[in-house]
Amino acid sequence: MWRQPIRFCKRPLSCFCVTARVVPLIGTLQSVHLGEYSMPLTAYNNVPVPSFMYGTAWKKEATTQLVQLAVAAGFAAIDTANQLIHYQEALVGEALLALAQQGFTRDRLFLQTKFTPTNGQDHRTPYDASATLTTQVKQSFDSSLAHLHTEYLDSYVLHGPYQRQGMGDADWEVWAAIEGLYQSGKTKMIGISNVTAGQLTQLCAQAAVKPMMVQNRCYAALEWDKEVREICRVHGIIYQGFSLLTANREVFADSGIRAIAQRLGTGLAQVVFRFAMQVGMLPLTGTTNPQHMKDDLQAEQLTLTADDMRLIETIGM
Ligand SMILES: NC(=O)c1ccc[n+]([C@@H]2O[C@H](COP(=O)([O-])OP(=O)(O)OC[C@H]3O[C@@H](n4cnc5c(N)ncnc54)[C@H](OP(=O)(O)O)[C@@H]3O)[C@@H](O)[C@H]2O)c1
Repeated sequence: MWRQPIRFCKRPLSCFCVTARVVPLIGTLQSVHLGEYSMPLTAYNNVPVPSFMYGTAWKKEATTQLVQLAVAAGFAAIDTANQLIHYQEALVGEALLALAQQGFTRDRLFLQTKFTPTNGQDHRTPYDASATLTTQVKQSFDSSLAHLHTEYLDSYVLHGPYQRQGMGDADWEVWAAIEGLYQSGKTKMIGISNVTAGQLTQLCAQAAVKPMMVQNRCYAALEWDKEVREICRVHGIIYQGFSLLTANREVFADSGIRAIAQRLGTGLAQVVFRFAMQVGMLPLTGTTNPQHMKDDLQAEQLTLTADDMRLIETIGM
């Protein structure tokens, strides 16, 4: 029942006006009827979640300009991380200041950032790396709020567990700190990235507050991360798929998907993003090209048939 496109509206983001039927239950996902909005949304604990997210990794100095272009193109959800190796979170914040001047105020945007443990950082940690993990999370979160010029986040994500298999003591300590941020109301949702099916199952079974978001690299060869997506479906977690294009280059050589794109008069990227939406994901795009931003958003307008979906689902197998 979730992630059904509700209504498409061509109006620009500046017309954003949520008249959503809110969902009072903790941990529920529900499609909502919205007023004027450029994209369909899903509500999670009263939080409207846009159906497409703009990712800011590897944009370097261009981050500020690209975030502004993405929002102007129609993206309402921005993903970043407090991790200088790959992201410029402070430059996302610069873009947000400029956007606010243009009327794209904070309440119109869905902001997601991440706590990156030391094993994903270089020496420029946004926290005292010798402090306890609980303190590291708090310091990183406060630094993110400062970078993004905001008092709250829509989603705060653990960038990845410390270990490849299972949840270790460090992961539980970090997760408890993230749960605390959620309970304090400073972030509306919490989630985890780069998580295995086993880790997610453990987290859902034992956490005081279950993740509400999962963000994973989505490989066609793994049936588009089917195992993790199924756990998300069972627990009402929003699954965010990233590197849908870059992780699946072989998909673009497939004659079947090419025929679908040709029939619909669209590009291969749009077919992949539309597939992701129709299968229940919240896709991310990392494009740096203003035309591709608009093209990618056009995926919202497509409809894939059941046969198309079957073909794409098994394309990398
Ligand atoms: N949690 C994590 O550990 C993690 C890791 C990696 C990424 N992420 C998040 O996911 C986001 C997206 O990742 P990604 O950049 O790998 O995603 P992606 O969208 O699969 O890859 C971006 C590439 O696709 C191209 N592209 C996009 N739209 C296109 C179109 N319509 N036609 C042709 N080419 C198109 C881009 O080229 P152009 O620039 O020329 O359009 C760029 O080379 C990141 O920015 C980040 O926010 C998270």
